[in-house]
Amino acid sequence: MAIQRRSLLAGALALAGFIFAGPPAFGNEVNLGRITQMKNGTAKLFSVASSRVLVFRRSAKKFSGFIATCPSDDTKLTAANVLGGKITCPTDSSVFNATTGARVSGPATSGLEKVSLKITNGFLIATLGATAAPAPTARQLVESSKVPVGGGLKVSSSQGVLMIVQPTRGNFAAYSAICTHAGCEVSRATASAIICTCHDSEFSTSDGSRLAGPASMPLKKYSVVERNGMLFLS
Ligand code: FES
Repeated sequence: MAIQRRSLLAGALALAGFIFAGPPAFGNEVNLGRITQMKNGTAKLFSVASSRVLVFRRSAKKFSGFIATCPSDDTKLTAANVLGGKITCPTDSSVFNATTGARVSGPATSGLEKVSLKITNGFLIATLGATAAPAPTARQLVESSKVPVGGGLKVSSSQGVLMIVQPTRGNFAAYSAICTHAGCEVSRATASAIICTCHDSEFSTSDGSRLAGPASMPLKKYSVVERNGMLFLS
């Protein structure tokens, strides 16, 4: 009974949050998920289209974001390269300030490229700059043959991680893979439902509407077209 009451209360609070604050921002900005997915002082790597964004959570409401590439030799940075408020390139040991991205020591001669971040309704929103913005070809998603009939496939895209579903042969749709309940990535899809196993929310593969669980908002839907065996955001 106590658990039931807690679930009801959590659902009511989530619903109230969306009524008063509105749904998370989408559009040109990319939703990286709930801020609660990261603890203070930790880092996480996000893949958005062809860009890799390294995010460092400085405090409860402060995040720093950078393109995850060492400026000196283009080596890829990961969350493991962030330690003690510093980011260290794995090959040439250049060091950067994890808050500002400024160069601390070389051989790199410049700092890390910044990514603008903001918090909207508890979600972390990244705005990619000119050099980090997805190329026009980023509308390309994946070969249609890779999406199982009666199931789904998660892909990284210019709109963040998407779950592409094919409920029946030849019918494709794409949904944001960020669960509207608490920001987990959804786990899998069947012919009828997209499932988030964090707290067992389910969404319809027809329109993204909630079918079950504590989520109160639908998944954001994206139109998909198939051309020559390839799926694109339309
Ligand atoms: S995050 Fe709670 S059900 Fe998805």
